Amino acid sequence: MKIDFTHAKKWNTCSEEERKKLEEIKEKMNQKQEMLDWLDVETCIEEEEKKKISLLASEIRNQADVFVVIGIGGSYLGSRAVIEALQPYFQKNKPEILFAGNHLSSSYLKELLMYLEGKSVYVNVISKSGGTLEPSIAFEKIYKYMKEHFSDYEKRIIVTTDKEEGKLRKFATENHLETLTVPRQIGGRYSVLSPVGLFPIAVAGIDFLSLLTGANFNRNCFDEAAQYALVRKHLEEDGYTIEANTIYEEKLSSFAAWAQQLFAETQGKEGKGILPIVNENTTNLHSIGQYLQEGTKNVFETVWKIEETEDLTLENYDLSMNELNHLVLEKVMEAHESGNTPSILFTLSELSPMEIGKWIYFEEMAAAIGGYLLDVNPFNQPGVEAYKKLVNQELKKHKKSE
Ligand code: PA5
Repeated sequence: MKIDFTHAKKWNTCSEEERKKLEEIKEKMNQKQEMLDWLDVETCIEEEEKKKISLLASEIRNQADVFVVIGIGGSYLGSRAVIEALQPYFQKNKPEILFAGNHLSSSYLKELLMYLEGKSVYVNVISKSGGTLEPSIAFEKIYKYMKEHFSDYEKRIIVTTDKEEGKLRKFATENHLETLTVPRQIGGRYSVLSPVGLFPIAVAGIDFLSLLTGANFNRNCFDEAAQYALVRKHLEEDGYTIEANTIYEEKLSSFAAWAQQLFAETQGKEGKGILPIVNENTTNLHSIGQYLQEGTKNVFETVWKIEETEDLTLENYDLSMNELNHLVLEKVMEAHESGNTPSILFTLSELSPMEIGKWIYFEEMAAAIGGYLLDVNPFNQPGVEAYKKLVNQELKKHKKSE
């Protein structure tokens, strides 16, 4: 993994004051203060849980046609990101992995239940708190479906939640469901390398241990991640308040959505923070590319390049298709810089579990450091709680008595 600030040189600085602040942040992280268990692969997941995941995943891969992952925010974005980045576009292997409980579309849930008919289904419901509205609604319907359709439904439903607390833990215990644990000191958006993300990833047939190896390989990336966090901060101070996470490989679309959530929920508080958006190129060169070249100067790009991909020769050029994609990427960065849209370039050698593991760790590190640099708590989300409170107050009026 390489990072290049050539097209954002002006913002790649570090004052004495910032250097001191980064030292303090490093110290805080070394001491592993609250909510920092994602910093070590050993505290991301226990050995026992790794074994359980391997066993359950191989059973499900043998038995299931469809595996439904129910969860929202940090409970599903990470696994979806990794699965889509590492699976082929077409001819996906069994089981088909589907996601639910990440919105309130009744059409989606209704059509999903119809789609499950006649198929061998396994379910993983994931919620750290155990009480989030969207997954609760989806789980209620899917649980009923499972009970009605499978005599062995208890072994087909795996619950990932807190070790002891919450409604979902209680439900799993009372109904004898298999469980996995969300580590207490890891927040949703930092949980992809815990059982939250690793179990669905293992069911997809991806070598989840290599993801952990990759993350562990990058455990000393503090300085590089801090440099990225600092460049982002300087850009924000200069009015570049939107970060377009720009991909040139469609398989990374969900990865960009995961990074969007990671940075937005970590840093967007107390009137501060950059808004991350997903920018799919070259598709968007024919839409928001216009804005990036000539529009309001409030967007910078973080461009993600994959060095080696499957490739094709081209009839009319002495370049391969991947080389052509890279040529466009480089020229777009040049053009956008001339239009005062700076960009930062990340290069991954390939899409593999190891590289993705390194990258996840780097992004998490940079997001958390950036939060500390802004003097906000990187691990809460009071803005999310605010709307939930209003909805819950209103819903009390509509609750049917049990
Ligand atoms: O990053 C976070 O903490 C959030 O996005 C949560 O993951 C999300 O709100 C879902 O919460 P829970 O897992 O408690 O259902």
